[in-house]
Amino acid sequence: MPRHEPVGGVMKVAVFGLGYVGSVTAACLAAAGHEVWGVDVDTAKVEPIAQGHSPVVEPGLDDLVAAGATSGRLHATTDPRLALERADVSLICVGTPSTQAGSTDLTYIKRAVRDIAEAARVVVRPESGFHSIVIRSTVPPGTVDEVVAQVLADVPPPEGLTFGTAMCPEFLREGSGLADFYEPPFVVVGTRTPKVGTALTDLFSFLGVDVQIVDVRTAEALKYACNAFHATKVSFANEMGRIFRHFDVDSREVMKIFVQDTSLNISPYYLKPGFAFGGSCLPKDLRSVLHLARINDTELPLLAGALATNERSVRDVVDRVIAGPGREIALLGLSFKHATDDLRESPNVELAERLIGKGYNLRIYDAIVNPGRLVGANLRHVTSKLPHLQRVLTDDPDAALAGADLAIVAATDRPAVEALLRTPPARTIDLSGRLGADVEALPGYEGVGW
Ligand SMILES: NC(=O)c1ccc[n+]([C@@H]2O[C@H](COP(=O)([O-])OP(=O)(O)OC[C@H]3O[C@@H](n4cnc5c(N)ncnc54)[C@H](O)[C@@H]3O)[C@@H](O)[C@H]2O)c1
Repeated sequence: MPRHEPVGGVMKVAVFGLGYVGSVTAACLAAAGHEVWGVDVDTAKVEPIAQGHSPVVEPGLDDLVAAGATSGRLHATTDPRLALERADVSLICVGTPSTQAGSTDLTYIKRAVRDIAEAARVVVRPESGFHSIVIRSTVPPGTVDEVVAQVLADVPPPEGLTFGTAMCPEFLREGSGLADFYEPPFVVVGTRTPKVGTALTDLFSFLGVDVQIVDVRTAEALKYACNAFHATKVSFANEMGRIFRHFDVDSREVMKIFVQDTSLNISPYYLKPGFAFGGSCLPKDLRSVLHLARINDTELPLLAGALATNERSVRDVVDRVIAGPGREIALLGLSFKHATDDLRESPNVELAERLIGKGYNLRIYDAIVNPGRLVGANLRHVTSKLPHLQRVLTDDPDAALAGADLAIVAATDRPAVEALLRTPPARTIDLSGRLGADVEALPGYEGVGW
């Protein structure tokens, strides 16, 4: 575990909330050489730390808290004023529980921010005249910009002190909290105030990890993305076990091999927001697994949900088209992925069929698909869905875009991008996210999921 003197110098840090996250954070920062004051409204959390014990059960934490108390670098109090006196940074680690309706209860966050703002008005301010208020609790996107900002507008800082705010999500897991704190997957700071970014870069310099400065809402959303993904992984593995058990398959063996594929399975692949999946294999094989489940009276809601959410991706685009003006549409890209003419279960074909069915006039550009050369199941599929494909298909993107009110763009090839830049329609819906900054800067540009 790295415990060096902090590169940016010793900082005075107030840690609000001394539960699992706050007590680990406070003890580790003190061990790294910072002067740390933990604050909690609950004396059951404060007293143990003040006496050199951990208030929560976490391997190694008792020793670290004891060392912090002995070194005089770790303090605990119920009085925010003691913590705020000359403090450079406040880290807010209070609980953000679910309400009965499932929303996030931000009561403790608001209270902690108010406690900080009120204490800052009556204590000696830091020499720099700047104090960073940083959320480490898990909070919905918009919390720092709206909820925290509102409290700070209600209780502004005293003259000579400026507040900067940030979101810096915590990724530790209970049971391995210390190890996770010292080796985080990333240190991400969402802020629009460079001074806060610098303060946190200095504060965490002892970790030896690059601090990534991002947009505030990206940092807020990141933690939810991580936890939603982890939950999905567990449920996926469990569903594999639930179905294959009926076929005398040891799913532990299946998953042991499954994870060895680090190009498609455990990798960034398939993890970019965009449009629906399709093609000749994914929908078909997913349906097969769901059928196997049905005939074995087994429910696989996660995998069933994957098909449902895929359908939703197509419907969302249709709904967005309907919600806007114009009847003339250029669909750039028809096959399910670049450099193939396979149209079987292409979500773009599905999209085209639905829009034509709703009376829109479509012109379709595809660099590769040639209706005259389609054969077999590929031909049967497309003629059942788009009987007039020959009439509306072109290999000239300018021809597809001529007179279009709206472009829906799945293709990412150079001719498509250049044609869009030459004659941009009033509205462009980008399904891939790979069209480049110039297209994204066009007026009327919309990402499908960004
Ligand atoms: N537990 C984890 O493994 C973990 C990991 C990463 C992120 N998180 C997130 O971090 C946050 C904290 O989680 P936790 O498990 O440490 O919570 P916790 O319930 O263990 O601790 C929260 C503490 O905040 C205190 N508190 C409430 N209001 C306060 C105030 N105004 N001032 C000072 N203290 C106050 C409570 O008394 C309590 O001791 C949550 O948003 C959680 O989702 C948790």
